[in-house]
Amino acid sequence: MKRSILFSVLVTLGCLLPPMLVFAIDQEAENLYNRHCAACHGIKGDGEGSAAYLLSPKPRNFTLGVYKFRSTPTGEPPTDQDLLRTLKQGIPGTPMPAWDRLPERDLVAIVEYLKSFSDIFEDEESMEPPILINAPPPLTVESVKAGHQVYQELECFKCHGPGGKGDGPTAPSLKDDEDRPIRPYDFTRGPSLMKGGASAQAIYRTFMTGLDGTPMPSFIDDLEEEQRWQLVHYIQSLSSTRQAQALPKGTPTLHAIKVSTDPSLDLSDPIWTKAPVAMVPLRPLWARNNWVDSIKVQIVVGPKTAAFRFEWPDVRKDEETIRPQDFRDAVAIQYVPDAVSADYVGIPFIGMGDKENAVTIWHWKADWEADVTGGFGDVVRKYGKVMDQMVVDLTNEKEYLSGRGADNPLSIHKRKSSVEVLKAKGFGTLTSLPPTAQTVKGRGVWRNGVWTVVMHQVLDSAVGPPLRKGQSLPFAVAAWDGTAGDRNGQKSVSQWMELVIE
Ligand code: HEC
Ligand code: HEC
Repeated sequence: MKRSILFSVLVTLGCLLPPMLVFAIDQEAENLYNRHCAACHGIKGDGEGSAAYLLSPKPRNFTLGVYKFRSTPTGEPPTDQDLLRTLKQGIPGTPMPAWDRLPERDLVAIVEYLKSFSDIFEDEESMEPPILINAPPPLTVESVKAGHQVYQELECFKCHGPGGKGDGPTAPSLKDDEDRPIRPYDFTRGPSLMKGGASAQAIYRTFMTGLDGTPMPSFIDDLEEEQRWQLVHYIQSLSSTRQAQALPKGTPTLHAIKVSTDPSLDLSDPIWTKAPVAMVPLRPLWARNNWVDSIKVQIVVGPKTAAFRFEWPDVRKDEETIRPQDFRDAVAIQYVPDAVSADYVGIPFIGMGDKENAVTIWHWKADWEADVTGGFGDVVRKYGKVMDQMVVDLTNEKEYLSGRGADNPLSIHKRKSSVEVLKAKGFGTLTSLPPTAQTVKGRGVWRNGVWTVVMHQVLDSAVGPPLRKGQSLPFAVAAWDGTAGDRNGQKSVSQWMELVIE
């Protein structure tokens, strides 16, 4: 609250006078950008942040001044509203998060700061106005049919494919302006993953303006108004209604309930029938065909323990990491051990915190679960496999014996829990907590293509979390699918959510 008053005073004064105060506003915006955006987009806005190497598609290089999602004609800078919309919605199906939980004034400040990276925004007077978009006419069988005709005539199929599956003849050779391979959108994947927005108006905007920096051109001069909406209707018809509702929208709030008896590690504990359910959307940090795109989360707080339950579909169980090409399934939560204010002012960077703010992480791993619950037969089997592998591939021996630390398969006899508790203070600073702090228990079962995992913690333990009634805690979830090759930073993640204890 105090901060917002200070901010408006600064803005008002900034227009009138001293450069010192204007500087204070810039400093604030710079701090916000550095905290939330720089790990991906780089301190200098050049797209070379410390996390950029593991992301695909790559974060935008703002110094080039080329933007995909605009309401303005091709080659023009986006409007402030365009940038704000991109920030609030994020870019679905890519690592770019939705920043809908940051206060509006912070977003406005960040947008101003973003614009300072490129001179295309300098001459605001001569900028072309946005393209006018009317209300869409109703979708009919005829309009869809006519739209298909337009799709053929304009040769959208050359890139997007005859059936809109993104598999047109030129698709494999397409590159963006920075010479990186780029795929035309597969319209049959449904509207939730459309980067530029999925409403009729958003689709209209996309092919009217083009996506600058990519092969997706502007078709503004090729179409009559009626044909444009027909084309929109045809594109909409390519995804099913099921897909249209498939993914949860926006960043949810998680509600934990207080219960009078302590939850057990039993996955079918009747407590879970009473706990509120949140469907949490996850976005992939690297491009692939399948990823864990949402996860069901429930939280209960008993007198002495708290428990977190997760459920997500996964067609194959991956619980071995013995061969180098094997990766495990896993789920993790991240929270700020010293709860911050509920309005998200001062919330740390989503990618493992930042210099000022540490985060705590609980990481449940399918292979650790197998070690803990597998029994002696499993241990023998596993040792046998490790030995086989060593004989086959001697070069791996060193890694097994030293490099993998807690993940070394030879250390399974020491394993007491399937959950590792870690802490981080910024991207790339992840460290395991000492054995005394490894107090989180886990239990996970894979059945009929679904993982169910419970994590369980004594409330007054040293590692938290601080779950007191009425409190609000920044909370995030990540998931790994071993079959898809997920490992370490290559995973699916949520944005910060608010966890409210009722
Ligand atoms: C986890 C990494 C990550 C973080 C954090 C992140 N971005 Fe991005 N951002 C991306 C990626 C990746 C893209 C490119 C997506 C694409 O082109 O399909 C992108 C694209 C963008 C774009 C381009 C939109 C356009 O029209 O071309 C803007 C603007 C943007 N980000 C702003 C921000 C701001 C502001 C922040 C901080 C509040 C931020 N991003 C934080 C990964 C990130
Ligand atoms: C030269 C190849 C090419 C042609 C021709 C082309 N597109 Fe695209 N289109 C692309 C690429 C590449 C992308 C993905 C850009 C990205 O991911 O950043 C795309 C993306 C889109 C999107 C955005 C989906 C999203 O993620 O929001 C829409 C809508 C679209 N195209 C419609 C059309 C229509 C309609 C036509 C014909 C009138 C057409 N395209 C013709 C290459 C093409």
